[in-house]
Amino acid sequence: MDAVIEMKNVYFQAQTQEVVHDFSFQFEKGKATALVGPSGSGKSTVLKLAAGLLVPTDGDVFFQGCNISSMTRNQNLSFRKQASMVFQDSALWANQSLQQILELPLKLHFSEMNKQERNERIHAILAQVGYKKRLDLRPAQLSMGEQKLIAFARAMLCNPAILFLDEWTESLDDSSAECLMNLVRERQRNNDTIIFVSHNFKVIKQLADYILMIVNGQLNRLFTREQIARDESMAQHIEKGIAL
Ligand SMILES: Nc1ncnc2c1ncn2[C@@H]1O[C@H](COP(=O)(O)OP(=O)(O)OP(=O)(O)O)[C@@H](O)[C@H]1O
Ligand SMILES: [Mg+2]
Repeated sequence: MDAVIEMKNVYFQAQTQEVVHDFSFQFEKGKATALVGPSGSGKSTVLKLAAGLLVPTDGDVFFQGCNISSMTRNQNLSFRKQASMVFQDSALWANQSLQQILELPLKLHFSEMNKQERNERIHAILAQVGYKKRLDLRPAQLSMGEQKLIAFARAMLCNPAILFLDEWTESLDDSSAECLMNLVRERQRNNDTIIFVSHNFKVIKQLADYILMIVNGQLNRLFTREQIARDESMAQHIEKGIAL
């Protein structure tokens, strides 16, 4: 199996709470893996650990066999260029305009681009996600759904090979959610790796090759797409976020 991200016996402690307990999984290249489970079970934390955005209290996370916590600056930059995240709360810079927010990844990872090229790229992505308002606004001037569109556009700007998506269709109207789903499916056809959190079973069913049920910070069970398709009761359990 071609693992693009591997988590090995990962623990994460926040103050006195053990949020993630002995989590191991190999995320396969070109596959979509859904993290599901009850609220507060540790899904977002596992996703951030897999993305190298949180440092495990114990255990290791590897990107293509290279331990993320011991990467050189250049290795880390290269990883960051290939991997993008849409955060559950969008996580847009509060004190920056949307233009500045969207320019930043391009300035960092494509320093050879001039301003006009950056603007063309930004406008092309915004057209794909269906954002039509001005770019001199700040995040607080947008609705939650509009912030999600910008967060998704930011994640797509550098054409990432790995997408980490945390409830990215939530707070969107049906047609915007469908639009973002189609963009993710396009990435899937492109053999990109997708690791996502969702409570929406329709999204899970359409995208996921593997489904990881997380309960109390632990990997409770792994399901494959085929198992879900075969067993309606299993599907219902996942939909309700209930451990089996
Ligand atoms: N930095 C932190 N400090 C304190 N507690 C934390 C921290 N990060 C996570 N937690 C706690 O860990 C638990 C899991 O949080 P997490 O956000 O990963 O859950 P989740 O499964 O994504 O939930 P939801 O479905 O509501 O988004 C929660 O109880 C949360 O309060
Ligand atoms: Mg979460």
